[in-house]
Amino acid sequence: MAWKIEHIVEQISEKNPLHAKKLKKALKKVEEEYFERSEAFLTKYESLLTSENKTLDYGVDCYLQMIADFNFETVKFMETGVYSSTSFAEVNERVYSKPEVMEYYMHGLLLSQFLFMHHYAVLKYFEECISTYAIGAKSYLEVGGGHGLYISEAIDIIGQDTEYDLVDISASSIALAKKMISHQNVNYFHEDIFAYEHGKKYDFITMGEVLEHVEDPIALLQRLGELLNPGGRLFITTPTNAPAIDHIYLFRNKQEIVDLIAKAGFQIEADFSMYAEDVPEEVAEQFKISLLFAGVLKK
Ligand SMILES: C[S@@+](CC[C@H](N)C(=O)[O-])C[C@H]1O[C@@H](n2cnc3c(N)ncnc32)[C@H](O)[C@@H]1O
Repeated sequence: MAWKIEHIVEQISEKNPLHAKKLKKALKKVEEEYFERSEAFLTKYESLLTSENKTLDYGVDCYLQMIADFNFETVKFMETGVYSSTSFAEVNERVYSKPEVMEYYMHGLLLSQFLFMHHYAVLKYFEECISTYAIGAKSYLEVGGGHGLYISEAIDIIGQDTEYDLVDISASSIALAKKMISHQNVNYFHEDIFAYEHGKKYDFITMGEVLEHVEDPIALLQRLGELLNPGGRLFITTPTNAPAIDHIYLFRNKQEIVDLIAKAGFQIEADFSMYAEDVPEEVAEQFKISLLFAGVLKK
């Protein structure tokens, strides 16, 4: 029996053989646990799609559309050395307010959590961090939850007695997250995090791949600092050199992320990072291969 993830890669191969070649190479190096986890995820995702009269083919098409966008943005980035969008207003107009764009983007990003090995590694690191730092948290906030996979995994680990809030600027992201999260007691806020004012504070905040979406990431971290209870923890992820249709703030290397976190008044308690390509560090730095940074921060 072939695993569902192998079937997905075969489908990708029919439409984008070059990209599938890279995915197949990566699949040769994974352990049995990866196949079991991706199978459980894809079974859940498939039933979500079935409830909308769609199949996994739909997810594959969304993923390939996202890859096409990434490739286009990468060519421009290699030419100019900067991201193509420079302001939040531009990205809001181009991406967040366009349901047809957000729809394929979030489905694509959801599949990438298992197809990109650095996304998968960071997802596993997140789960370890939740087990270490978030057990017993009474209040939990996710900022920019997107597809909803992270909060869904956090609820499975922390349990149902915690109060969960999710804020996202995109209505499409909230709609997909609602379908991904089976737990009923999650409050959804369709808002910009900078305008999020509900008089609440949190024991644990998660913000995956949002820091690079704002013009002033220091102000964003400081805003989250105000939302944390004393002793609370913040889990963030953010990439270097990752041209995308909605990225504004360019981190050129890991040190720039670390310095910005310190400037915002946080200490890094634990961190993990991984390059998007399986190449030696010198090669990754020379060719501006994206690195995904994940960290647990405290004030
Ligand atoms: C790249 S996705 C990340 C999804 C998920 N957290 C992950 O790590 O895969 C970014 C998400 O952040 C949301 N977002 C971007 N800027 C935001 C803001 N200022 N306030 C709230 N949500 C925001 C977007 O709508 C999108 O759903």
